[in-house]
Amino acid sequence: MDLEKFLVEFRAESRKIKNKEDRENLRVKYMWRRSGVVTKITDKIPQVPRKERAGIGTQVRAFRSEIEAALSKMSSTENAKGTSSPQDVTVPGKIAEIGSLHPITQVIEEVKEIFHALGFSWVDGPEVESDEYNFQKLNMPPNHPARDTQQTYYIDDKTLLRTHTSNIQVRYLEKNKPPVRILSPGRAYRRDMPDATHLPFFYQIEGLLIDEKSSMTQLLGTLDYFVKRFFGRHTKVKVYGHHFPYTEPSIEVEVFHPSKGWIEILGAGMVHPKVLENSGIDPNKYRGWAFGMGPDRLVMLKYGIRDLRILYNSSISFLNQF
Ligand code: PHE
Repeated sequence: MDLEKFLVEFRAESRKIKNKEDRENLRVKYMWRRSGVVTKITDKIPQVPRKERAGIGTQVRAFRSEIEAALSKMSSTENAKGTSSPQDVTVPGKIAEIGSLHPITQVIEEVKEIFHALGFSWVDGPEVESDEYNFQKLNMPPNHPARDTQQTYYIDDKTLLRTHTSNIQVRYLEKNKPPVRILSPGRAYRRDMPDATHLPFFYQIEGLLIDEKSSMTQLLGTLDYFVKRFFGRHTKVKVYGHHFPYTEPSIEVEVFHPSKGWIEILGAGMVHPKVLENSGIDPNKYRGWAFGMGPDRLVMLKYGIRDLRILYNSSISFLNQF
């Protein structure tokens, strides 16, 4: 059976097709069930000598699908061209799905922009971190109560998933001398039970400023400026004393949420002299401040979201709103 010969013929004939009628005739010639070319070939299979029969079924099927595909392509181009009127302006247009940035990404970008205007640049840091940079160099020696192992995902004795973005402080200062003004957004991990306001992973944006004359007042002013730029001029902000081993003094900042009340959005403080020393910077000459804020919390406050988890479940109907 010379299938190749039939295919060559079919291709030659299909090139001559001018209209729907020609195409219909070609279809009947090849695909008509009663006595089209394909049927005739199929009927002949039993007559092929046994020795040559292996694989012939597959070949015939391939032959048949090539013809089917070619015919259906011809009919769809005809339809697309529109046989009667060449252009139908009443056909509804195709709606293109347009994606958008995730709300957390949008918020991070917005924070970056506000701080860029204040001279802060952007740096990245590792999520898989050593105990040394996540804890020790930040004035949290082994057995320090603030490094409660319940909260940390350890990979081995010395390696962990960073519990905050503060690992960037020493990493950056070791390589860059003051004056320093950086922002470092990224993911952090803690062993938390997921609920409406906690997840085992979350975002943080670290801010760090080191120079010769920075002050606590400047930190408070900067944070107040940020909150008002981000949430609006009349936003209520609350600042109170806190404790972090790597800042002294330390503060926390809360913003008022209409239905949830006061929500903590960041921790901050004057960088501890020990941290500067650990980074090879003279604490008698330089000082500075740092903060770590939670963009997930900022998203909740800004858009009135009650449950953090909805930010991560990839629901299109939720994401389409941004
Ligand atoms: N690392 C702190 C936290 O995770 C936040 C912080 C950053 C506090 C920098 C002070 C200075 O809560």
